[in-house]
Amino acid sequence: MRRLPLMKIYGNEFNQRAIAQCLDNDIPVLLIGPAGCGKTVTALSMADNYAEETGAAVRYIQLSEENTKYDTILGITLKDGSCVIANGPVADAAERGDVLVVDEFTHATHELMLAFNSLTSDKITSVGGKTINAHPRFRLIACANGNHSIGNNSIPESVESRFMILKFDYLSNAEEWQLIADRLKCDGDANMTAIHKLAIEGRTSGLPISYRNIERAHMLISFLDTIPTNSRMRAIHRLTATLPTKDISDCVIVAFGLNNLTTHRNAKEKLLAVLVHEVN
Ligand SMILES: Nc1ncnc2c1ncn2[C@@H]1O[C@H](COP(=O)(O)OP(=O)(O)OP(=O)(O)O)[C@@H](O)[C@H]1O
Ligand SMILES: [Mg+2]
Repeated sequence: MRRLPLMKIYGNEFNQRAIAQCLDNDIPVLLIGPAGCGKTVTALSMADNYAEETGAAVRYIQLSEENTKYDTILGITLKDGSCVIANGPVADAAERGDVLVVDEFTHATHELMLAFNSLTSDKITSVGGKTINAHPRFRLIACANGNHSIGNNSIPESVESRFMILKFDYLSNAEEWQLIADRLKCDGDANMTAIHKLAIEGRTSGLPISYRNIERAHMLISFLDTIPTNSRMRAIHRLTATLPTKDISDCVIVAFGLNNLTTHRNAKEKLLAVLVHEVN
């Protein structure tokens, strides 16, 4: 099987080493952190390293409230008009000895999270007389935002205790700068400086501004490049000058009178979109 080129992972060296240890020692690991801080890319990259060393395949699934233990792990399903017990993707991965990345783990119901217990502790899962014994090579890496974020369910204690929990956070300013510079190929230009300042100063626990936002903001602000430099710099200065006051959505509202802005989501992009409109 041909592998896709691995994405370079920035920072998080401690967590990368800890995940490698967990994979080596067959300990399920759960990466917890805010939106866009790099959990999924790190999980997939570590899974890929393990797969390369062991010959395992990487399997990726994302959970939601709609998933049940029957369709996700193992259970009764309808096949050609009859009820049969069939493997879901988790039992399949366990049986074949894959390295399984379970993303958005806390979007699952408590019932589904609890159904992982027998697999994470005893390497076995069974339903209606069918038992799956996990292959010794089987590994599990889960990712989640944590309880405080909207749409996430709390993790039952018995589930939590079976995982090695690793806390993730946004990169340091210098690491994030490097990620932006490399990915967007814009090392230290004026747009990048303005956007990075915006991200650092506007980021709060209630308003997680991630590399994803930065990427989109950079795309938006690059529209400004079609505008004469004088007005462009004025616009960027106006944008950054309002920042230290409060959090970013307040800046949007105060600076541009967007009183009908009811959500923090994409506040920055809206601000930039307004800027583009204004300077045009
Ligand atoms: N440490 C990092 N190394 C490399 N890329 C990163 C890093 N952190 C963030 N990114 C980039 O930011 C984007 C979001 O990363 P990712 O999807 O892994 O975040 P996440 O923590 O899984 O977010 P969510 O909670 O929304 O699922 C990707 O484009 C990714 O490449
Ligand atoms: Mg993710």
